[in-house]
Amino acid sequence: MSDQRVQRLLIAATGTGVGKTHVARLLVRALRARFGDEHVVAMKPVESGAPYDDARALGSPAPRYALPEPLSPHLAARRAGVSIELGAIAKWVEAQEAGIALSGTMLPYPQSWSVIETAGGVLSPLAPGLRNFELMRALDPSRWILVAPDRLGVLHDLAATLTALAHLGREPDYVVLSTPSPDASSGTNAAELRALGIAGPALVLGHGAEDVGPLVELLAPR
Ligand SMILES: Nc1ncnc2c1ncn2[C@@H]1O[C@H](COP(=O)(O)OP(=O)(O)OP(=O)(O)O)[C@@H](O)[C@H]1O
Ligand SMILES: [Mg+2]
Repeated sequence: MSDQRVQRLLIAATGTGVGKTHVARLLVRALRARFGDEHVVAMKPVESGAPYDDARALGSPAPRYALPEPLSPHLAARRAGVSIELGAIAKWVEAQEAGIALSGTMLPYPQSWSVIETAGGVLSPLAPGLRNFELMRALDPSRWILVAPDRLGVLHDLAATLTALAHLGREPDYVVLSTPSPDASSGTNAAELRALGIAGPALVLGHGAEDVGPLVELLAPR
């Protein structure tokens, strides 16, 4: 059972290296500033590639599945002789969340938040027959934040990902553009995504930008 006192946010993406950790880190910082350090936990349940930079950047506990080789999680797991299991991840996530939910002494409990970064893209494999999508479904109820890069190719990549998710029956709650490597299209993509009816990004983070205020306002209106 998930703890209803904890608001769970899943950070997913159209692919690898698009800005999930960047967005998650800023979101964690903003939520901590507003709700208190002890009421926000960040997690990277599956990370491939020692020394596990994402978990470190997020200030999160060591990943439940820390896989040394910098490969797709399913392959890194196979090479490490490990099999990634949904139930084990769900239990681990709930254990971390229980820590923050119980950290308050006052009633009613203050709002607590868990920010969970997935590994790679929404359809990246974790094991045969198991993708991030299934992991994310197993972690519902939650809100899904889909990160895509503000660069050339995003019109296709976001359309492809959103089409797949619509077919799978669970679409993201928010789309965020981040800018790992600016190009001539950066700054134009959000408007084109809207005009083409592909997506309405809740936030666009330019290269070096750090203000996630508009997203926090949607997640936790004052
Ligand atoms: N808005 C931005 N401004 C500046 N740098 C950014 C921005 N978004 C992403 N980056 C940089 O781009 C690189 C890739 O971003 P990030 O590590 O957040 O991607 P990721 O989706 O978490 O990747 P992975 O799939 O490996 O977890 C990092 O060096 C990050 O600091
Ligand atoms: Mg990352």
